[in-house]
Amino acid sequence: MATQENTQIILGIETSCDETAAAVIAHTPTASNPYAAKILAQTVYSQFDEHECYGGVVPEIAARAHAERLPAIVKKTLQDANITPTDLTAIAATTGPGLVGALLMGSTFGKTLALAAQKPFIPTNHIEGHALTALLTENNLRPPYLLLLVSGGHCQLVHVKAVGSYTTLGSTLDDAIGECFDKVGKMFSKHDATFTHPYAPKVEAAAVKTTLTDLSGTNTENTYGFKLPQPKTENPLDFSFSGLKTAVRQALDKAAQKGDLTPDFIPALAAAFQHTAAQSLAQKTINALKQTGAIPLVVSGGVAVNQTIRTALKKVAADHQTTFHAPPLNLCADNAVMIAYTAALRNHFTPQTSNLASKTRPRWPLEEMTL
Ligand code: KG4
Ligand code: ZN
Repeated sequence: MATQENTQIILGIETSCDETAAAVIAHTPTASNPYAAKILAQTVYSQFDEHECYGGVVPEIAARAHAERLPAIVKKTLQDANITPTDLTAIAATTGPGLVGALLMGSTFGKTLALAAQKPFIPTNHIEGHALTALLTENNLRPPYLLLLVSGGHCQLVHVKAVGSYTTLGSTLDDAIGECFDKVGKMFSKHDATFTHPYAPKVEAAAVKTTLTDLSGTNTENTYGFKLPQPKTENPLDFSFSGLKTAVRQALDKAAQKGDLTPDFIPALAAAFQHTAAQSLAQKTINALKQTGAIPLVVSGGVAVNQTIRTALKKVAADHQTTFHAPPLNLCADNAVMIAYTAALRNHFTPQTSNLASKTRPRWPLEEMTL
């Protein structure tokens, strides 16, 4: 494959949770844009079927499914990109944070391929992947920016000063926001069979369907008469969602006991929950922008597909005279493009040495990712 001299072709592998993913990107920095890259191919297999009957991700099953699917997925992705392993500059795989067995499958596969193809292996941090993805797709975005990372495992506000320079300003004290969406959907599933794993998208879909204006008839707060708490945290940039989750459970249980579960009840409660969660994320983001000043606002992670949350954050950016950025929907949730891209950027700014001895890191804070 003919490429420019300064192009890096990187294969990325992602297996930190229940997505088995591979991608090939070409990073060709220019004087005006050191972040410029193209996606040559990507494949994402979501293991929904494997975990559906358990109502959540089973780590052992996730690891096995990665092992079974990865060879074919990597082969197909390389074919789709029209390259062979010889064309690669390096191979990157997620080595943390995530489920240890799942991480071991992807990283061991990546290391073995790197060894066989005699290519460098770059261990890559999953959170850094989410933190940098928007630079690939948003042409005018440059650091520094404020990142709101919202996923199933993480909920944090990060000041991204440069590639390899991150300060976490606030994190969740209990559930991640995606986890909270999943748990609320699971509660609804006890009363409504249309709620199945993965639950979060069904909560959003139900919320859109509500026809209630308000249980009290006013709908001034978009909470349909439900009293759902906004979390109070000591650090105004931290998050907490367990109180909100409990309030949803109590409202649901109370209505079920009283026989008040009308067809519109769950959609209205879903909408109230989603609105309250979005307002909480928006308020914490405002608090962070007060600290950082008006820098671009980026949202990423699986929850960033949620339209109510996107709309609330767009408004925050506009109200604070700054710009709003988010990866396209297919790059919000776990994918391997972000892994290949992160390895490419790190290698561009500080040449990385191959690390076949790298360990898997179930916990791996962003602050450690200095270059
Ligand atoms: O980034 P991601 O794919 O994996 C992690 O790194 O955790 O995020 C997955 C999370 C899931 O927990 C799910 O709850 C959430 O993204 N999610 C959503 C929606 N679709 C997926 N949350 C809110 N609304 C959605 N439509
Ligand atoms: Zn993720």
